[in-house]
Amino acid sequence: MPLFGSTKETRVDYSRLPRHIAIIMDGNGRWAKSRGLPRTAGHAVGAETFRTIATYCREIGIEYLTVYAFSTENWKRPMEEVSAIMGLLKKYLLEAIADMEKEKVRFVFFGDLSPLPAELRELAEETQRRSAGYEGCQVNICLNYGGRDEILRAAKALAAECVEGKRSPDTMTEEDISNHLWSAGVPDPDLVIRPSGEVRLSNFLLWQSAYAEFYVTDVSWPDFSKEDLRKALAAYQGRSRRFGGV
Ligand code: FPP
Repeated sequence: MPLFGSTKETRVDYSRLPRHIAIIMDGNGRWAKSRGLPRTAGHAVGAETFRTIATYCREIGIEYLTVYAFSTENWKRPMEEVSAIMGLLKKYLLEAIADMEKEKVRFVFFGDLSPLPAELRELAEETQRRSAGYEGCQVNICLNYGGRDEILRAAKALAAECVEGKRSPDTMTEEDISNHLWSAGVPDPDLVIRPSGEVRLSNFLLWQSAYAEFYVTDVSWPDFSKEDLRKALAAYQGRSRRFGGV
């Protein structure tokens, strides 16, 4: 059994990794504020952390990584901050394309992209299209995403199919709902990580996280390192997952 890590806290069995890790990239604003910097500086460092952690996940063989980049509620932030996050996403995607082609990374966006600035929306759609056939790690970027909004859309689509006579409410299954979410076809996350000390889901993958293991740490996202990911993996491997059984 291959075990690596300098301390018990970071000892990871790489043959028993979660298939799907989901991350709420929290704490960028507080990180910046505590350093006397504008919140946007925290997002810029957070985008670099994302690059480091996504690369590491791919290297160790994580099949799916989902990150919360912008929620349906984040539009309430000052326009300057919203624009900065959109700009960082655009920069990241432009830079990630070469890597994506070399490493066969598949990018998928969860969320309604229609209200995004046209340039970013087209870039996101084009990235998703170009990488659709790749069979490496799949990176899901939640953008203008909300868990309740996602479930509501699925409910509306299923109700419409019932009205059209294509299906009946009596025979509807949980799988039918899963298949109408942005994440259709993606296995549920095994591990949800939230840095920066808050212990809540904040409308992230509400349906899909039903049996996910939750890992929280006080480390803020801009400071989150590969070592912190190993701590999360070691904690995950120490848990007993029973999925409602005994
Ligand atoms: C939450 O921290 C973070 C966000 C709302 C934005 C996350 C965006 C990025 C990391 C940049 C681009 C993303 C990618 C995928 C390249 P917060 O601002 O709520 O922090 P706070 O709780 O300390 O205020």
